[in-house]
Amino acid sequence: MTDTLTSWGGWEPAIRDDPFGHFAEARARCPVQRVRLADGHPAWVVLGYDAARQALNDPRISKDMLAALQDNGDVVAEGLPGPEFSRHMLNVDPPDHTRLRRLVSRAFVPGRIAALEPSIRDIAHNLLDELDTAGPGATVDLIEGYAYPLPFGVIGELLGIPAADRPRLHAWFQVLLTGWAGDPPPEAVEASDGIVAYLGELVDAKRHSPADDLVSVLVAATEGDALTRQELLSSLFQLIVAGHDTTASLIGNGVVALLDHPAQLQALLADPGRLPAAIDELIRFTAPVPHATFRVTAEPLRLGGVQIPAREQVLVCLASANRDPGRFPEPDVLDLGRGDGPNLGFGHGAHYCLGAPLARLEARVAFETLLSRYPGLRLAAGRDALTWAHGDGLVLRGLVSLPIVLSPGRRPG
Ligand code: HEM
Repeated sequence: MTDTLTSWGGWEPAIRDDPFGHFAEARARCPVQRVRLADGHPAWVVLGYDAARQALNDPRISKDMLAALQDNGDVVAEGLPGPEFSRHMLNVDPPDHTRLRRLVSRAFVPGRIAALEPSIRDIAHNLLDELDTAGPGATVDLIEGYAYPLPFGVIGELLGIPAADRPRLHAWFQVLLTGWAGDPPPEAVEASDGIVAYLGELVDAKRHSPADDLVSVLVAATEGDALTRQELLSSLFQLIVAGHDTTASLIGNGVVALLDHPAQLQALLADPGRLPAAIDELIRFTAPVPHATFRVTAEPLRLGGVQIPAREQVLVCLASANRDPGRFPEPDVLDLGRGDGPNLGFGHGAHYCLGAPLARLEARVAFETLLSRYPGLRLAAGRDALTWAHGDGLVLRGLVSLPIVLSPGRRPG
């Protein structure tokens, strides 16, 4: 039988690097449609803004992918490091979701986040000092030297991962998040084993010597029965992934978007107070998280005028919803002063990004520090040389590298 479903994911380089036109065509055909994923599984992809907002917060759509996997082989299997590490808030429904989110939220109260600003600024300056050693006019990779280590350092501080361990851990996560087709390659299995062993040892160390950090808070919760060891390890794993790859992609994608729009970059340099609003527009426009994580229908429902049966996989395309012309006028235009309200880049509803205030703070400090030191920064090679192949292209969209010349240039005005 011929499969008439549109395929989704595993795109050719031209679409992978700039998927927005492809998403717009699909959205114009139908805001909710059944597709076939690159690994062969069917899913419903949600492309329109209203339907996406509904899907992200509809209790009839579950996040418990492990339960769904047991019921229905048509659901995408958990990747590495496997089910033992997937019992975290993003993979469960209430009441487990409420319990896990509440425990982790202790580290994300506004005062604690705001208090991180000086250390984020220090991390940013230290990284740029390091890149400076390449000498004036030298080409540096802003992804490897700045966009990645900055949020990784911050999540390391928050969790209490010793600074000396971070490079090793970071290297393993980079291998794991690169993405692959089919069975995981040996280096991914090795990286996964390394992470599993490391996090287990970290938890044991904090049990013996607790400190003022999130790992210690969560370890204490396992002693009071509020959290199992599996939930603890899964939560740490998820926080590290969610806490660095996303923000790294925002920094890299955002720098390219600013360089693509010199007049807006100049306006930002002239008035850095515009940065907070600009960051949300950069998220909308560059889609560091193009799709939300997988969901599954717990019962039949209507979404965007389409009937979806129970036990079917749902993939919400945030990148498409955020460029829905019914919600954002001239959606394909980057407008750093756009005043038309929140977008879905951090999700919506019960699973709305817990780290959004931290991500906004990190991005603000990262852009402020970079642009104040190097207002004349420029791409070292042609725009066409950039490759957005980091990550699976569904949930993560980031640059592999970003060769930049860190020229001090001239500040406007
Ligand atoms: C630009 C940066 C970021 C973007 C675009 C982003 C985006 C998202 C999105 C779209 C979701 C919802 C996924 C879904 O519903 O399937 C989410 C959830 C989450 N994010 Fe972020 N995120 C970012 C940074 C961070 C950071 C820095 C942290 C933590 C340090 C973080 C922690 C989380 C957590 C814990 C969840 C799960 C919330 C829940 O299930 O209740 N994120 N994020």
